[in-house]
Amino acid sequence: MLNKIKLLQEEIEKFTSHNLDEIEQFRIKLLSKKGEIAALFSEFKNVPAEQKKEVGQKINLLKQSALDKVNKLKNQTVAGQSKEEYDDLTRPAETIPLGSRHPISIVKNEILEIFSRLGFTVNEGPEIEDDWYNFSALNFPPEHPARDMQDTFFIDKGSDILLRTHTSNGQIRVMEKQKPPIRTLSPGRVFRNEAISARAHCIFHQVEGLYIDTDVSFADLKQTLLYFAQEIYGKETEIRLRPSFFPFTEPSAEMDISCKLCGGKGCNVCKYTGWLEVLGCGMVDPNVLEGCGIDSVKYTGFAFGMGIERTAMLKYQVKDLRLYFENDVRFLRQFVSAY
Ligand code: DAH
Repeated sequence: MLNKIKLLQEEIEKFTSHNLDEIEQFRIKLLSKKGEIAALFSEFKNVPAEQKKEVGQKINLLKQSALDKVNKLKNQTVAGQSKEEYDDLTRPAETIPLGSRHPISIVKNEILEIFSRLGFTVNEGPEIEDDWYNFSALNFPPEHPARDMQDTFFIDKGSDILLRTHTSNGQIRVMEKQKPPIRTLSPGRVFRNEAISARAHCIFHQVEGLYIDTDVSFADLKQTLLYFAQEIYGKETEIRLRPSFFPFTEPSAEMDISCKLCGGKGCNVCKYTGWLEVLGCGMVDPNVLEGCGIDSVKYTGFAFGMGIERTAMLKYQVKDLRLYFENDVRFLRQFVSAY
């Protein structure tokens, strides 16, 4: 009996593990109701009377040391590792997966950054607007089709409160408050009553630009946009301006860039024209300046507006607009950028 106790004592001393299952097996083997120490207790009645005291003490000590060992090993084990290993401050850290910016934010930030080098600041206008800021102050005639319920989301029937259809409302809000010189951008969300498809969405993003000062000319507009296009689409990019119409600019133009994919030779992205339309622009109509209390004889200015999704599509070649709104992390994770 004493020999058996000695052997078990040695086994307890030798045993070590940082695996919780193994520790549990060890506990069951020694300390459970049918374990080896319980067996010793049941054999105890056969021990001769004169040895009972010594043997009894030894079995109790054995049981205590088995319990201590199990508790000690359990306490030292964290997540399957020994505590020393776990607490090792020199161990390489576990990697924490970082999120990434949304591609629309990346492109927006890049646009803002490029224009900030030319002194443009940022003024975000409200998404919920009234007819004045979204249409009337921008020289839209009363019967203009864009004011129709079919294109514009009104907050209430018969009300003139609406979700802005473009970021041009930002121009008016800035001109009302600031005196020229003005150089500002208004980025933000816009809303139009469109069926959702790969090429259209009822929510999208625009950046509006406005520059008002004495002697601002169409040449300034063209040079500013050329600088922007070459910064965002690459140095080899060429631009062309086509005459167009917007109620708030006169003259108005649309800007195309040379197709990045085919270098202007013609491909299915540019529909074999070699050019891609990227923004609308023009010289701010004197009516708009006067409506905001700016002297249109002393001051002139230019404005432009571009879609951020459109810019992102051209940069990343992702042509289904819906992907920008679904927030599938497998899509979003692919965009890594300095912006
Ligand atoms: N607001 C126009 C749109 O949503 C874009 C635009 C065109 C803005 C010409 C401008 C501009 O400032 O001058 O289609």
